[in-house]
Amino acid sequence: MYASSQYLLSPRHRDKNSARGGGHLMNFVMPEKNPYLMMEGIVDTIEGNCMKYRVLSGIQPTGRLHIGNYLGALTNFVQLQEEANHECLFMVADLHSLTQSYTPEEKRAEIMDLMTTFLAAGLDPLRSTLFRQSRISEQSELYWLLSTITYFGELSRMTQYKDKVSRQEENINSALFTYPVLMAADILLYDTEVVPVGEDQVQHLELTRDLARRFNNRFGQLFIEPKALMTQATRVMSLDDPTRKMSKSLPGGCLFIDDTPEIIHDKVGKAVTDSDREIRYDEEKKPGISNLLTILSGLTQKEIITLEKEAAGMSYGDFKKMAAETISNALLLYREAKGEWGHKQKQVEEIFQAGEEKARKIADKKIREVKRVIGLL
Ligand code: TYM
Repeated sequence: MYASSQYLLSPRHRDKNSARGGGHLMNFVMPEKNPYLMMEGIVDTIEGNCMKYRVLSGIQPTGRLHIGNYLGALTNFVQLQEEANHECLFMVADLHSLTQSYTPEEKRAEIMDLMTTFLAAGLDPLRSTLFRQSRISEQSELYWLLSTITYFGELSRMTQYKDKVSRQEENINSALFTYPVLMAADILLYDTEVVPVGEDQVQHLELTRDLARRFNNRFGQLFIEPKALMTQATRVMSLDDPTRKMSKSLPGGCLFIDDTPEIIHDKVGKAVTDSDREIRYDEEKKPGISNLLTILSGLTQKEIITLEKEAAGMSYGDFKKMAAETISNALLLYREAKGEWGHKQKQVEEIFQAGEEKARKIADKKIREVKRVIGLL
C-alpha cells in the first residue's frame, strides 16, 4: 500500500531515484515490521493481512498557518487518513506553543482556531483521532521521565533551539531548550511509527529515535523508533527571501492559507525571483521560481516537469499571475469550510473532547508500562 503513497521517509531513507521535484508518486520505504507492534496488538488486519501503521503529528497554535505548514504537514495528514493502512492521531500542540509570548485570551482563541483549521482542511474525526496536547497529561509526565535520559549536549545541538534563541532574545525560557523532549514524549507515548512533518522537524525525530533506543537498551524493549515522513514540499521557502524557510516568525515572507485571493495575488506578484526569464526548477540559481514551482506542485499534484512545460514561454509576470490564481483556487474550498466550521465551535469542541478520550486510553496504558519498567509502579 505504501507503493501508492506520495510520501517520502526522511532524506537519508530516500534512494537515489527519488528525483527532486519529481511529483507525487514517490519512492518509499516500508517502516520495518516491528515485532513489538505484534505483541502490543496494534497490528490490524484489513482485507486480509495488511499492516496498519500508527501515524501521529502535531502543529502549534501560534497564529495563522502558512502554505509551508499546509503542504509540509496538514495536507499530508489528510492524505494519510484516507489510506486505510494508517491509524492516525493529530494534535494541536498547545503546550509547545507556550514557549512563545502570549496572553491567555490569545492562546484560547489560537487553539480553537487551529482545531477549526484541522477540520476545515479535511481531517475527519471518524478516521483520525484529533486532540489537544495539554489535555493528555500523560504526555507531560513522559516528557519528564524522558528528560532524565536526555543529555544536555544533545539538546544544545538542536538547530531549531539555536534559531529560536537568536530570534526571541527577550524570552529565552528553559522550555525552548527542552521542547524536543516533549515532542519525543508525544510521539513515543502512542507507539507512533510514522510522523509526517516538514524538514525542520527531522532533527527532533532523530532525537526521538535516539531516546527510544536508549530507553529500550536500559529498561527493555518498550518504545518504537518512529520515522519521519515527508513530501517534496518539505521546505517551502519565504516569498520575500527564497533562501530562507517560510516561517511564522518571519510573517513578511508568508503566504497564509486564509489570505484572500487579492492578498495572494499581491504577495505572489511581489515574490522575489531572479533577473533571468526562464521558468525552470533550479534551487541554487533560481530559488524564487523553484519555490513557486514547489508550491504549485504541492497544491495541484502535478509534476514539476509538467509545470515547467506549461509555463514555457511565459513572462515572470504571467507565471506569477497564473501561480496566484492556482493557489487561490486550490485554497478556495478550505476557506469556505473554515467559514462554515467557524459557526460550529461547540461541535468542534465536542469532536476534540471525543478524540481526547480515545487518546487518553492509549496514553494511560502506555505510561503505566513505562512506570512499571523503570520501577515507579
Ligand atoms: P510547527 O507548528 O512549527 O509546524 C507544523 C508543521 O509544519 C511544518 N513546516 C513546514 N513544512 C514545509 N515548509 C515550511 N516552510 C514549514 N514550516 C513548518 C513543520 O515541519 C511541521 O511539520 N514541534 C512541532 C509540533 C509538534 C509535533 C509533535 C510534530 C509537537 N509535537 C509530535 C510531530 C510530532 C512544531 O513546532 O511544528
